[in-house]
Amino acid sequence: RIAYVNGRYVPLATAQVRAEDRGFLFGDGVYEVVHLHRGRFVDEEKHLNRLTRSLGELRLAWPVGRRALEGIIREVVERNRLHDNALVYIQVTRGAGKREHYFPKAGTRSTLVVFARALPAFPRDVDAWATSIITGPDQRWDRCDIKTVNLLPNILAKQAAKEAGAFEMAQVDADGMVTECASSNIWIVDAAGQLRTRALGHEILPGCTRAALSELLSAENLTLSETAFSLEELRAAREVFITSATSFVRPITRVDDDSVQDGTVGPVTRKLFAAFTRHVQ
Ligand code: PDD
Repeated sequence: RIAYVNGRYVPLATAQVRAEDRGFLFGDGVYEVVHLHRGRFVDEEKHLNRLTRSLGELRLAWPVGRRALEGIIREVVERNRLHDNALVYIQVTRGAGKREHYFPKAGTRSTLVVFARALPAFPRDVDAWATSIITGPDQRWDRCDIKTVNLLPNILAKQAAKEAGAFEMAQVDADGMVTECASSNIWIVDAAGQLRTRALGHEILPGCTRAALSELLSAENLTLSETAFSLEELRAAREVFITSATSFVRPITRVDDDSVQDGTVGPVTRKLFAAFTRHVQ
């Protein structure tokens, strides 16, 4: 497999960045995960816009121009002969320099790494795609809207989920309200039948799948209430699903020890899974 590292296409297995890279030392960097489906980068513009925003919020310089990056991700998938289902990973760090917390001296080049790998085929069967989540305290910082590579709380949450036999952990803030999951956004159809997901803010990542799905709702005669819901509301929900570049629309039929209603995929989730499947075609 071939990766792009700072201007070169190199074998991924032996690709290197410097030991003094600030991504490695401090987690001083940002990333994106884009889904390639049938030769198309799903919601590419949204992902590159978010990368621009993440870089700006952390005062990180673009390593190459946006056009050049669009070319690099195409070259990486081409060189790896990935055309159908693949994940493209893009990471930018503040580069390598003397290990001190201050930004490195002017002129330090940021590091750009891009690699890709095949993903399982896009799910056809929404029932088989259903999974479970656990819940736990949101231990992350207060700028979760920036897609940084600092993912320690997310990693601990995902690992806890895995050890509990679940796929994800819904993050519950100090007020008992759900923010998102460790690597996906979370939506419910509440007990009154209203589709809800947390409003954008510093507490959640502005998911590209969340944004894309929001744009599909009116055609499905659905309205969205962007309001925080509590852990109790999550437990009482009629339907629960998560969204991300790799989960797409993924039904949640179990939360901690309880099934969501009768444990089958509900009609709204079914409809939105179908709508998103059409969106990626
Ligand atoms: N995760 N929230 C968090 C904390 C995330 O890490 C992600 C994405 C999302 C969903 O965003 P999007 O729809 O743009 O993928 C929400 C990626 C897939 C990852 O870290 O692998």
